[in-house]
Amino acid sequence: MSILYHDNSKIFHLYNDSISYIITVMRNGHLGQLYFGKKIHDKEDFSYLLETCERPMTSYIYENDRTFSLEHIRQEYPVFGSTDYRQPAIDIQQSNGSRISDFKYDSHKIIKGKPKLDGLPAIYTESEDEAETLAIILKDHVSKVCVELYYTIFITGGIVARSARLWNEGTSSVQIKRAMSLCLDLPDSDYEWVQLSGCWARECHIHKRNLEQGIQSIGSMRGNSSHEQNPFLVLKRQNTNERAGEAIGFSFIYSGNYKILAEVDAHETLRVLVGIDPETFEWKLESGASFQTPEAVMVYTAHGLNQMSQTFHKLYQKRLARGYWRDRARPILNNNWEATYFDFTEDRLIEIAAKAKECGVELFVLDDGWFGERSSDRAGLGDWTANKERLPNGITGLAERIEELGLKFGLWFEPEMVNKDSDFYREHPDWIISTPDRQISHGRYQYVLDFSRKEVVDAIYDQMAKILSEAKVSYIKWDMNRSITECYSKALPADRQGEVYHRYILGVYDLYERLTSQFPKVLFESCASGGGRFDAGMLYYAPQGWASDDSDAIERLKIQYGTSMCYPISSMGTHVSVVPNHQVFRNTPLHTRANVAYFGTFGYELDLNKLTEQELIEVKEQIAFMKKYREILQFGTFYRLKSPFEGNETVWMVVSEDQKTALVGWYRILNCVNASYTRVRLEGLNPQFCYHNLKTGRCHFGDELMHVGLITSDETAGQVPSDVTPYTDFESRIYVLEVAES
Ligand code: GLA
Repeated sequence: MSILYHDNSKIFHLYNDSISYIITVMRNGHLGQLYFGKKIHDKEDFSYLLETCERPMTSYIYENDRTFSLEHIRQEYPVFGSTDYRQPAIDIQQSNGSRISDFKYDSHKIIKGKPKLDGLPAIYTESEDEAETLAIILKDHVSKVCVELYYTIFITGGIVARSARLWNEGTSSVQIKRAMSLCLDLPDSDYEWVQLSGCWARECHIHKRNLEQGIQSIGSMRGNSSHEQNPFLVLKRQNTNERAGEAIGFSFIYSGNYKILAEVDAHETLRVLVGIDPETFEWKLESGASFQTPEAVMVYTAHGLNQMSQTFHKLYQKRLARGYWRDRARPILNNNWEATYFDFTEDRLIEIAAKAKECGVELFVLDDGWFGERSSDRAGLGDWTANKERLPNGITGLAERIEELGLKFGLWFEPEMVNKDSDFYREHPDWIISTPDRQISHGRYQYVLDFSRKEVVDAIYDQMAKILSEAKVSYIKWDMNRSITECYSKALPADRQGEVYHRYILGVYDLYERLTSQFPKVLFESCASGGGRFDAGMLYYAPQGWASDDSDAIERLKIQYGTSMCYPISSMGTHVSVVPNHQVFRNTPLHTRANVAYFGTFGYELDLNKLTEQELIEVKEQIAFMKKYREILQFGTFYRLKSPFEGNETVWMVVSEDQKTALVGWYRILNCVNASYTRVRLEGLNPQFCYHNLKTGRCHFGDELMHVGLITSDETAGQVPSDVTPYTDFESRIYVLEVAES
């Protein structure tokens, strides 16, 4: 890995074993983008890549030159309105009202490792040799606003992490109207756009479209990164698939409003921008003050989508998630939400927990309903003390009893919210986000606390820290169940109201930071009505997140498959729930529910007392299976083999780091009569190793399984033999392949 600067040509070349990223300082002092892609040899001069030519209806910078127009030049951090008419990376309104800027190269430095981003989640390094960072300072000589662009490249892999820091060396304040984290101008637009979209209970479905001249975008203006559009984009070549071909993934390490857009111009060049949503953002930058954008990560691959995802998975598992739980297999839990909803007592919870313990569960999680006057979703949020009617011994007493059973205890919070029917609201009615003299809309009868105010965050921290200090709590599910409306903070002046959404998220991060550092062994799981804020920002604080409120195994195939495009298996909360399922009322076999949930953190969202003896035997086997293989399932290398978006079958697999164990998940939605023979080619095995298929008892070399394939035919497809239970709809199998130790 290296970052080189060629003084004569004014060219920066960042490269490692996989990629090259080449930037130049152009004759007008702005930064030009020359190349991003597969690694190429370094040389002194790549300036021929800066293509310019005379074109009609174009505006030019230099009087005697009809070629140099920013409109037709690929750039690193472009501005609008001084010959470029495309979407800009930065937009500064100055004291005279002008929004024209001219950011020229000033200086640069090459830093070992990677600087921290204050108050924001970001990729980190553990030693200086892992990465290098290029920091380039640009200055606008009229407004005296400065920008420092950061580019971090790692010793290996196609990753470039980017962000920008702005500061004001002028005497008057300016308004930042837009400060994107990443701009990438590419020489052609022959890409397919792949996004993860959906809604509540249908998160992260894969949607594709071709790029067209004009702007295409995803984003959120809800205050949370949203169920609707995950802050992640892939641009892939038309022929790229999971196994081969070029793609670039863009992920935003941020949990609030964002925008990811691609603008294709008239000559089919492409500009990609990733950053805070400019529509709902504005920031007053006083003289002497600075502003740091969140970080965006891009991953280039020349070897298919699986490799791109695996690069994100390892990066986010090892260098974004932090703390005690980062590398640890996750406890198998039993959550009471779908078992009881709000209808429980302490004894009832103990009954559920005792059965869970008997089956091998390790952690019991008490969900919503344990605090204040919470008997429905109309009251209680904000009052984080136990409801004495239901829990006469408080959380301390309940946690004690759970621990006595030999289980760890976990607890649900929704720290950012308040019900009007709560003591907290009655005491601080002006602590909610709302606009003076306007209606105050609610969501689920709840209101959003103004986390842009430190005193509000402090008050919630105090309540949570008290419980965590007094009771034996090992896990927290941090929920967030509504988006922001009538956004306004009563603590900020009029010219700072554009800052509220971002300050709110900084408040959320601050609370997470305080709690995770004060209680480092507590496992945090983020949640926002399922996957409403399942993003890379959250992963920095909470190494796992509840992927969806939809717990149906068949629905989960698409959700988990889509989520795996960017996020590691260890980050996905996955539970076995009852049938008929509570979201789609579907009946799926118990083994299929577990076979899907194994590829995640794994747990149960039901009352095990209600299962039959036979089902309990199966549950015990499932838990024993998960305990045996969870390190591999959660931290192995994950491959998508067959997509639920493309047919009746889904197949995915994980391979252990030493390649000696692989688990293949095979799922079929509808049964077929007299079906065809099927096989699936596996990936990531060692061709020399001989694998024992625990299901069939046969042995196969790795190359055989990867080139011939694993036979997945349904032996009951034709004439059903009398001694075999016929398959039905929603069928699934897990194939365990183990290298026989000889
Ligand atoms: C949200 C969560 C659920 C559950 C409920 C409790 O919907 O996503 O898992 O915790 O809130 O109210």
